Parts: sequence; C-alpha cells; structure tokens
Amino acid sequence: MPEIHPLSRVISFIKYLWHCNGRHGVHSPFVYQLLEDGLYIKNNDFKAIQQLRKELRKDNTPIRNNFGTNAGAYKGQGTIGDLAKKAGISHRYGTLLAKLVKYFNPEFILELGTSLGISSAYMAQHNVQITTVEGNDKIASYAKSNHQKLGLDNLEVVCSDFDTYIDQSLRNIPSIPFLYLDGDHSYEATMRYFSKLKSKATSDSVFVFDDIYWSPGMTKAWEEIKQDEIVTLSLDFYKMGVVFFKPVKEKQHFRIWY
Ligand SMILES: C[S@@+](CC[C@H](N)C(=O)[O-])C[C@H]1O[C@@H](n2cnc3c(N)ncnc32)[C@H](O)[C@@H]1O
Repeated sequence: MPEIHPLSRVISFIKYLWHCNGRHGVHSPFVYQLLEDGLYIKNNDFKAIQQLRKELRKDNTPIRNNFGTNAGAYKGQGTIGDLAKKAGISHRYGTLLAKLVKYFNPEFILELGTSLGISSAYMAQHNVQITTVEGNDKIASYAKSNHQKLGLDNLEVVCSDFDTYIDQSLRNIPSIPFLYLDGDHSYEATMRYFSKLKSKATSDSVFVFDDIYWSPGMTKAWEEIKQDEIVTLSLDFYKMGVVFFKPVKEKQHFRIWY
C-alpha cells in the first residue's frame, strides 16, 4: 500500500484537528486523569537521547534494509544518518511514549520495530523490562550499542522477523501490559500482528500503534482495531493511536492534541 498522498495527509490532519478534544472536552474520568497527571506534565529528562540522535544523524555508514513497507530509510539503501532522520521517533512523540509508560507503569513492554533504539530508549527511562524486536541484524547491533551508550540495561534487542518472534515467543509471555507496534506498516501485517497479540492483552494493557495515518491501509487497520470487540477505549494522537481493554459501559473514542 503506497504512502498517503500529501494532500490526503493534510485533509486527514485537518479532520483530526477539527475533532480534537482538549482536556475539558473528554467526558471520561480515566482519560481526563491521564491527560492531567500524565501527558500534560512537562518532562525534560531526555537530553542524552537528543544528543545521541544528533550524533547518529551525522553517521554516513551505508545500511541496506529489506524489512518493512517504506522506501528509503526503512527499506532499501540509505545511511545510518537517514535512519536517524526518518525512521526514529521524533522527540515530541518520544516524550509521549515515555509519559504513557511512566503513567501506566507496566512491568514489561514489547516493541516491534527497534530501528536504532530511539523509541525504546524513551520508554526505558523507568523501571520496566523491554523486549524490542528488529529484523535487520546490523540495525539491531546499532540499537544495542546505542542503549549501552545511554547506560540502559533494562532492554533486550531481539533480532528476528516479527512473525517468527510472535509465533515462537508468545507462548512464553503470560501477558503484554504495554505494546508498541512500529514496523511493517501495511494493513495486512498490522491486522495479523494485532490478531495474534490481542490474546495477550489484559484489562490493564495499553497497545500503541504508530503511523496510523501513514497510508490508507494503516488508516483502515486503525479503524478496524478501534472497532474490535475487545477494544473499549481508543485515543487518537494522529501520529499514533492507543487502545485500552478495560471494562466500560460504552465504547469511547477521543482525538487528543499532544
Ligand atoms: C519505523 S522503524 C522503527 C523506529 C523505532 N521504533 C524508533 O522510533 O526509534 C521500523 C523498524 O522495523 C523493522 N521491521 C519492519 N518490518 C519488520 C518485520 N516484519 N520483522 C522485523 N523487523 C521489521 C525495520 O527494519 C525498521 O528498522
């Protein structure tokens, strides 16, 4: 599925803004509390990650990657610097992930799509064990060394294709308190991963999907995930979508400005 046309992207962003809820527009005590005590709090703890990102951007080491859906940095030929510029999470959304992790305080995080390890570094700031999966062995090695440079020892980088990892390891994982899916952005792959991983969701789990408006296929996947019978609440941050599984009287959906 090709990346969304720039004009369609602008239209979908305007639609998102139009329907966006601020903290006073959310009629859910759970979401209001999350915004008030979690997401709208300033946090400037990430200087080391920002510094590392700057250094990685200058790295001209060539890298070839055959995983994922995108051309250029994610898939094909480029440099480590390209990956740092295009594939790594932005600081803004890195802090969103970090705040979600801090607020929900999960014991374990599964990330599918490590790349250079930037998003996992944002999430690893708290007392949590993270397993992050990357198909490309050279990129996975970079991620490991980046985590070492940042002094993070609560992360395991697994080099594997996502399907192989899920099929081989899921039976050993009792539940997934926090999932971040950021790779292989096609409708089919996203729905396949979700249908396998949702069996490990509990009523307290938080599942985060990246790039939900990146292509028509991703948007379709996001719409279907929101409608899934086990999803009870969803938050749309435009760049990423977050779903919850807690028992509620009525399914709810909010678009949140962050
Ligand atoms: C968007 S990047 C991840 C960025 C990272 N989460 C960050 O923000 O720092 C996606 C990564 O997933 C990997 N990937 C994509 N599809 C995959 C698959 N089917 N199996 C394993 N790795 C895959 C790609 O090699 C790429 O490095």
